[in-house]
Amino acid sequence: MADIFMATYVILAISAAVCIFILWFYKQAFNYWKKRGLEYLEPTIPFGNAVNLCMKRCTLGEIFAQFYLQLKKKGVKHGGAYLFWKPVYIPIDPNIIKKILISDFDYFPNRGLYINERDDPLSGHLFTMENKEWKIYILKMFKLRVIAREAERFFIVLSKNIMDYRKRKCLKTGDLADTLIQLTNDNDQKKLHHMHKNYTMQPLNCNQVASQMAVFFCGRCQIKLRNEIRETLAKHYNGVTYDSVMEMKYLDWVVDETLRLYPVLPIVPRICEKDYKVPGTEVIIEKGCFVMVTNMGLHRDPEYYPDPDKFDPERFSPENKSSRPNVAYIPFGEGARICVGKRFGLLATKLGVIAMILNFEVTLNEKTTKQIKFETNELIFTKNK
Ligand code: HEM
Repeated sequence: MADIFMATYVILAISAAVCIFILWFYKQAFNYWKKRGLEYLEPTIPFGNAVNLCMKRCTLGEIFAQFYLQLKKKGVKHGGAYLFWKPVYIPIDPNIIKKILISDFDYFPNRGLYINERDDPLSGHLFTMENKEWKIYILKMFKLRVIAREAERFFIVLSKNIMDYRKRKCLKTGDLADTLIQLTNDNDQKKLHHMHKNYTMQPLNCNQVASQMAVFFCGRCQIKLRNEIRETLAKHYNGVTYDSVMEMKYLDWVVDETLRLYPVLPIVPRICEKDYKVPGTEVIIEKGCFVMVTNMGLHRDPEYYPDPDKFDPERFSPENKSSRPNVAYIPFGEGARICVGKRFGLLATKLGVIAMILNFEVTLNEKTTKQIKFETNELIFTKNK
């Protein structure tokens, strides 16, 4: 009997000690932003501010957009949040965002995303980094995949077939695939590496293109777009050429507006490489701190986009565009690590939209939900099945 009491007592004592340690640990961790005098979102044990993400209620992009909007409501230029116990710095003010992504790029050259080349092979190609000590295992923490599995399989087979075929036939057409094949050549990689120390680019990324995008416009927008496409093509003797596509201004606005609401990659993460004093403030972002520029948050900010959930291509007319800061629209990121496939991605998307709008009328199915739900296991926006 005494033994049972003793055992129970020991188990209770150990459990209490573990609980006290966990509470102490979190208390210390959650003091991080307070100590540095930065406004922050109140975290809770154990997920920090990431409860909705951990419960699979929303995606990583959506949760950071929410953080951005909550901090913006507090009227601050920047703020902090916690992913579990890890502090994350979130810039709100466009001037700070510009500094981090563009002029002070030296402090923030990498993304710090976890790469799992075995289970999620395309992740390595998208966001490869050099310095391993900067890796914050954010994707691993939340078990997120960078790319949907079906898309991954398709693109791996497609790229392999193209490369094998061209290598076998010694074919050179001077297009993007040629450049990518060239980059698989070790010597070219080394040259590139030498030119950009923090920069390892690897081929293939087409899966972010049109296939990921839905068309969210019905009615007037669609008619206007179809008319523009028809008229422009008629002027060009029905040729869908680079020039004819570039002439389609409304198409440009429609694609921009779609990427505003649904930026395929909804976050622009960075890792701080050396202590950085945020200009105009006393706050220091320490080396190793995770910085999250949230393009989705910026894109849904009512200060830049009144009635932000409404699909309205007119927001991208030259007058409207010039009325907001450039970094308020960054679906392709910004600065030295801006998306290298931007022009290709836009062109491919536009070609897809042209083919669809010329041949079909898009209407909403009764089953279509107004609020699109995205796959919570994936970083890149993928529609929930
Ligand atoms: C609509 C299509 C696309 C969107 C919205 C998109 C978006 C993005 C974003 C937000 C980034 C991060 C930029 C940053 O951190 O500042 C990125 C990086 C990148 N994208 Fe894209 N992308 C698209 C298409 C493509 C295509 C078609 C390719 C390749 C042919 C591509 C290749 C890359 C590469 C290699 C990077 C990493 C660049 C670096 O680290 O320096 N993307 N993309």
